[in-house]
Amino acid sequence: MEVAIEGSPQQVASLAADAIENLLTSRPDAVLGLATGSSPIGIYDELSRRVAAERVSFKGASAFTLDEYVGLPANHPQRYRTVIEQVFTRKVDIDPSRVHGPDGNAADLEAACAAYEKAIRGIGGIDLQILGIGTDGHIAFNEPSSSLGSRTRIKTLTQQTRLDNSRFFGDHLDAVPTHCLTQGVGTILEARQIVVVATGRAKAEAVHQAVEGPVSAMWPASALQFHPRVLVVLDSAAASRL
Ligand code: GLP
Repeated sequence: MEVAIEGSPQQVASLAADAIENLLTSRPDAVLGLATGSSPIGIYDELSRRVAAERVSFKGASAFTLDEYVGLPANHPQRYRTVIEQVFTRKVDIDPSRVHGPDGNAADLEAACAAYEKAIRGIGGIDLQILGIGTDGHIAFNEPSSSLGSRTRIKTLTQQTRLDNSRFFGDHLDAVPTHCLTQGVGTILEARQIVVVATGRAKAEAVHQAVEGPVSAMWPASALQFHPRVLVVLDSAAASRL
């Protein structure tokens, strides 16, 4: 694992955006893994500025999101499909038909998970996965105790994650879905390159466990230690327990 500690969230975003720009320069048809949550917002803003400045282009790129809530109506603003469009894909020159996500409204959710795995395999895998970390060490929605070899599947959200995410649902815990579809830890580890971003003191313990802790299903992000090409970009608050 390569760990970079930057002075500000803006510098964190900029360094992470460099990795994506470098990839797209050498491989304009790269396959990107996109994360939702607040952590990558700075990267997406930085990348959209670079697209406007014609420094980078997503014209040939494809993208796969990590996860999706189960059962949110198609027009719900917190559906991750909608969120990723609002915060990133509509601001850059990516072809919207090449942006994919698991279908949290499928009649057969297990079939939707299998289809998503097949789509990722079919395109040749993810070249670069952007990741945030939950305060409990989750990646995507792989909550503590997730199998480190897991694939895309249905998961129950922990109370902690539902509480953390209730801020996106008007602070109404009851409005936060109870289930999700998520790429598995095993799916994520197959990406050829992974860029993790974390800022703020609330992430310090999860970052400590991910980078320095023993590899454990109780801290799913610690499985990233097995990956040969991970860049972890932190601000000093997120790095304060290293
Ligand atoms: C969410 C998402 C994850 C994200 C994490 C951290 O629940 N499913 O993909 O990385 O929790 O969120 P944030 O970046 O808002 O702290």
